[in-house]
Amino acid sequence: MLISLYEFLAAKQVTRSDLLIALGGGVVGDLTGYAAATYLRGLDVVQIPTTLLAQTDSSIGGKTGVNITNGKNLVGAFKQPLCVIADTSTLKTLPQDIWADGMSEIIKYGCIKSAALFDLLAGGEIGDRMEEIITACVKIKAALVETDERDQGERMLLNFGHTLGHSLEQHYHYTGMTHGRAVAIGMCVLTRLAERAGVTKSGTAERIEDCLQTYGLPTDTQVPLEQLAPACLNDKKRESGGLNLVLIREIGAGYLQKYTVAEFYQLLGSSAPAQEEG
Ligand SMILES: NC(=O)c1ccc[n+]([C@@H]2O[C@H](COP(=O)([O-])OP(=O)(O)OC[C@H]3O[C@@H](n4cnc5c(N)ncnc54)[C@H](O)[C@@H]3O)[C@@H](O)[C@H]2O)c1
Ligand SMILES: [Zn+2]
Repeated sequence: MLISLYEFLAAKQVTRSDLLIALGGGVVGDLTGYAAATYLRGLDVVQIPTTLLAQTDSSIGGKTGVNITNGKNLVGAFKQPLCVIADTSTLKTLPQDIWADGMSEIIKYGCIKSAALFDLLAGGEIGDRMEEIITACVKIKAALVETDERDQGERMLLNFGHTLGHSLEQHYHYTGMTHGRAVAIGMCVLTRLAERAGVTKSGTAERIEDCLQTYGLPTDTQVPLEQLAPACLNDKKRESGGLNLVLIREIGAGYLQKYTVAEFYQLLGSSAPAQEEG
């Protein structure tokens, strides 16, 4: 896909003074952004996202990339768009399941940074308030990206629910469970464990579950956590000797915590396999 896009740009004699416009969901945004970052060593790009996920997440922050068969997110570049134009009327045609996936990430923003946003979402009456909701998410993401463009600190809060979520996606070979649903389960499972460990205010997991269920999202998995743990530890956010986990103290208060492998298994309620200790 990327090569044919380059060939198309060459055939059209695109020059450095042209700009690319990415009109579509996150896949189009990531691909076009990456082509813009690399073709002729860099063209300008404008993002016009048309899915809930793209309007609230992928079009902001400058991460672009393409997938290769060896894995997601291995090839990419940082490329900030000239501007992002989000027209919420495009969302009217989104299929229900893609809408729900976007809601999962929106609920995530509430969990990590805004109790007010979370309360609005939990209330369920969001029909005519999408602009306000999308604006709130964009502000949160933009602030996180501004302080940490290269994803070495605060920006990692956006990974709440993603460590277990990615592991679930991998478990289902990236076809059996969508990203948003995997993240929904990841947020709930992790918060339940964190409550049990006394690091998250009790009752928080139940509030997240209720909110996710309002939007038809799953909140639990039958896959044993021991099976998901190894992939969590191979996650790109892994630190040497452990991993960085995003937890919330309560709704709206996300934070990063380093866990050793042994501590991580302890949080999951099991002991680390011998080769993973340390
Ligand atoms: N760059 C980042 O920071 C970042 C962050 C999160 C996710 N992503 C990437 O974003 C991608 C997912 O994005 P997505 O959820 O937008 O999926 P997507 O781009 O695959 O779009 C989902 C589907 O909706 C269709 N569609 C798009 N807009 C529509 C509209 N207005 N009405 C009806 N149908 C519409 C698309 O054709 C597609 O079939 C993944 O590849 C993920 O890796 C990137
Ligand atoms: Zn995500």
